[in-house]
Amino acid sequence: MLLGTQRINTRGHLEIGGCDTVELAREFSTPLYVMDEATIRAKARELREAYATRYPDSLMLFASKAFMTMAICRIMDEEGYGLDLSSGGEAYTAMKADFPMERTYLHGNNKSVWELEMALDAGVGRLVLDNEREMDLLQEIAASRGASQQVNVLLRVAPGIKPETHSYIQTGQLDTKFGLGITTGCAMRGLAKALRLPNLSVVGIHCHIGSNIMGLDSFEMATRMMIRFAAQVRDELGLTIRELNLGGGVGVRYKSGDQPPSPDAYAEAVITGLHDELEKVGLPHPRLLQEPGRYITGEAGTTLYTIGTIKDVPNIRRFVSVDGGMSDNPRPALYEAKYEAIVANKPDAHITQTVRLAGKHCECDNLIMELPLPNVEPGDILAVQTTGAYNYTMSSNYNRFPRPAVVLVNDGNAEVIVERETLDDLLAYDRIPDRLRRCVKA
Ligand code: LLP
Repeated sequence: MLLGTQRINTRGHLEIGGCDTVELAREFSTPLYVMDEATIRAKARELREAYATRYPDSLMLFASKAFMTMAICRIMDEEGYGLDLSSGGEAYTAMKADFPMERTYLHGNNKSVWELEMALDAGVGRLVLDNEREMDLLQEIAASRGASQQVNVLLRVAPGIKPETHSYIQTGQLDTKFGLGITTGCAMRGLAKALRLPNLSVVGIHCHIGSNIMGLDSFEMATRMMIRFAAQVRDELGLTIRELNLGGGVGVRYKSGDQPPSPDAYAEAVITGLHDELEKVGLPHPRLLQEPGRYITGEAGTTLYTIGTIKDVPNIRRFVSVDGGMSDNPRPALYEAKYEAIVANKPDAHITQTVRLAGKHCECDNLIMELPLPNVEPGDILAVQTTGAYNYTMSSNYNRFPRPAVVLVNDGNAEVIVERETLDDLLAYDRIPDRLRRCVKA
């Protein structure tokens, strides 16, 4: 499986964005996140166009939790995207990257006062409110800035749909911490309340049913549920939903057999459901928003590692260890996520064995349980694919591993967009109270 601009070059090495990955490993060291700019842009465009041609009043927001750095904010701005922000930290990153804040949407199920204040200071375009407490907090903060301060908000609702994906990343069912349920009546009560708050201006509703979803049924179902709810809202509250934000969630290829929907099929399913249901209930067309995260950056990312220890447990298995693991990719441990990998310095070599790919943490941090490989030796470079979403953003310093660098590759150029952390970075926030300092007695 070769993804994006991945190809085998004339030296017989894996190349991404016109850069030889063996050279990248040499120049920037490993582990290394490699992000393929052309693929990010191509994915962003394909999806945007799939929607725009079928539904002109649509806006794509990149769910920055998937991959957040200042450079990606610049790329998304150039591609005409808005941003879905899930925290004050993400909002701050966007601001510092000069992202047009009116195209940002701030989410979260428990926004802090400082985050709400920051959102107003920064001119965040929309706040997606999760619950009634947030409404009260926001009303109070907005009112303290003057009676005329109006904040555009959407309400996150739970449509009661459980898509087929890992249970840890299902968020549309009723039993979720996110949003207010439609069928319980909580969403309607929440909207009624928001309408009574003088400084809040309710522009729409939002849902996000889950992540890495391969089928289209649940997206279409969610769309229909949302329109039926919008009609109820019109009937009961006299409010017209002007913005319908349907979240993200479309899956990507982690393994050769994975068959995520194409952007066209995805857009078609959602928009067909939308038109059909709007017509049935007689509502005007709202502005349509989607928040793809994984789809935009997932396949564009590859992690390069150097192979080290190769250990045979006689008659049982071979463990091949690399110089990273759980701290740069917690997804196998969290979600039993499956990956494929290529030996970057000999991608065409004959497969001779199946090994277990292990990380180097003090944990059973297996990255790939059954990995077919050619003969390998210490020093070989291993490229794990589809690590562009929720890898860098979920990385940690577990076992005091410095986080890897991120390089953006394009047309034969490689640019660092996140520096590799140093050992001193690991100590930057440590303090030793004076009483614990080692004193050398005379
Ligand atoms: N919108 C909202 C409100 C979300 O909560 C999410 C993801 C997205 C959009 C983007 O979803 P995507 O298109 O990327 O599926 N850490 C997990 C994924 C958590 C997703 C959280 N919300 C993982 O590594 O699989």
